[in-house]
Amino acid sequence: MSEHYFTETPSSDAKQRELSLELGGHDVTVTTVAGTFSPTRLDLGTSVLLRHLPPPAPGDLLDLGCGWGPIALDAALAAKDAEVDVTVWALDVNSRSLEATAANAKRLGLDSIRAVTAEQIPDDLRFTAIRSNPPIRVGKEILHDLLGTWVPRLAPGGRADLVVSKNLGADSLHRWLTQTLGGAFSVTRTGSSKGYRVLTIHRGESSD
Ligand SMILES: C[S@@+](CC[C@H](N)C(=O)[O-])C[C@H]1O[C@@H](n2cnc3c(N)ncnc32)[C@H](O)[C@@H]1O
Repeated sequence: MSEHYFTETPSSDAKQRELSLELGGHDVTVTTVAGTFSPTRLDLGTSVLLRHLPPPAPGDLLDLGCGWGPIALDAALAAKDAEVDVTVWALDVNSRSLEATAANAKRLGLDSIRAVTAEQIPDDLRFTAIRSNPPIRVGKEILHDLLGTWVPRLAPGGRADLVVSKNLGADSLHRWLTQTLGGAFSVTRTGSSKGYRVLTIHRGESSD
């Protein structure tokens, strides 16, 4: 059976590539690996998301489904430049993604990135920011479970930004988030570009 980018332990040839691109306002070179999401280039949806993001706020930031790490690396680079104290939790199920993200963080001298599985994130941690190009292809049930697990872990006043292709259900996901998250959260479409929507979720300041 062929492997997906969300396979936990890929067995395919781990071919590595060097990729030069701009992240967090820096020209960088990273290493990507086959068996992870979009190893040949920065995904178009991810590039739409990165262009829409505010500077990282101090605190804990979750990159939900980190792949080889572009969102986590972008956040950590921007935070370092701004001298903002941010811990970036780069979460994935795919062991190769986690290894690639950790290696890229080391290569770029970013010690604020922790490449982790869900079990390695402390239960009581709340995030000031969540950023994600979520894994739509896992199917609606798993996707809803994933977002329903992590988005409620935004701290009061926190903000989540998600990029989703219009053709892969961005508008129905927007409706689902609005219906599911409850009154403490607001969901807004803050961007629309190149067939992608950026959905921004704010959690109110009160902890209810
Ligand atoms: C669309 S890719 C985005 C990867 C990377 N953030 C990027 O922008 O290039 C979604 C990622 O979510 C990961 N993923 C799938 N299921 C997951 C789960 N249950 N928990 C965490 N990550 C998951 C996949 O392995 C994949 O790396």
